[in-house]
Amino acid sequence: KQRINIAIDGPAAAGKSTVAKLIARRLSYVYIDTGAMYRALTYRALQCGVDVHDEQALLSLLRHTHIELQPSPQGQLVFVNGEDVTDIIRGEAVTNAVSFVAQHPLVREEMVARQRAMAKGGGVVMDGRDIGTNVLPNAEVKIFLKASVEERARRRHEENIARGFPSDFETLKEEIARRDRLDSERETAPLRKAPDAVEIDTTSLSVEEVAARIMEVVNERI
Ligand code: C5P
Repeated sequence: KQRINIAIDGPAAAGKSTVAKLIARRLSYVYIDTGAMYRALTYRALQCGVDVHDEQALLSLLRHTHIELQPSPQGQLVFVNGEDVTDIIRGEAVTNAVSFVAQHPLVREEMVARQRAMAKGGGVVMDGRDIGTNVLPNAEVKIFLKASVEERARRRHEENIARGFPSDFETLKEEIARRDRLDSERETAPLRKAPDAVEIDTTSLSVEEVAARIMEVVNERI
């Protein structure tokens, strides 16, 4: 069977990574979380005291930042220059700064080059904001996941609690809405549904139902 590429885009906390991991496992494809790459650079910037609005400084930092996404039974581990940052990049500090780091065209250019290199041979499930529109415009399958802000905040809240992170529902809702605004209104590769993407509203669907719908689309193209 042909090894295709699958692009999964959508706003923050729409369930992209959960469902992308599931699809990757079913097809024995590689899951690539592009958000983790922007988070990893943001972590480095905060660690090194680099201003998230300084594009040149971020670009040179990125050039010295080796980001590794490693498949693991629990999903995916993220390493930055050999350091395991899997949990810390999901924390408040990184989450609230990442959309500023991701606005810079030169940062995105370098990230996109790395992402395309990873997808060169096919057989990847890649999630993000601009995968179907910009990173992999020729992906055989494009999915756009959406859900209400309330529902996304509720899911993230439960996830935080399950992981033992502090969490406040109202704060989460505000942060998600703010991040969506920054990601949709930026100039370079904003969050958009590609014209040829299949849109799925996950608000009242289970993970299994979303995965089944995506597998239908995949099986039509494979
Ligand atoms: O998907 P996740 O919430 O981990 O993404 C974190 C942030 O990284 C997003 O809010 C967005 O600012 C940025 N991002 C992006 N392009 C992508 C993936 C993520 O700009 N393809």
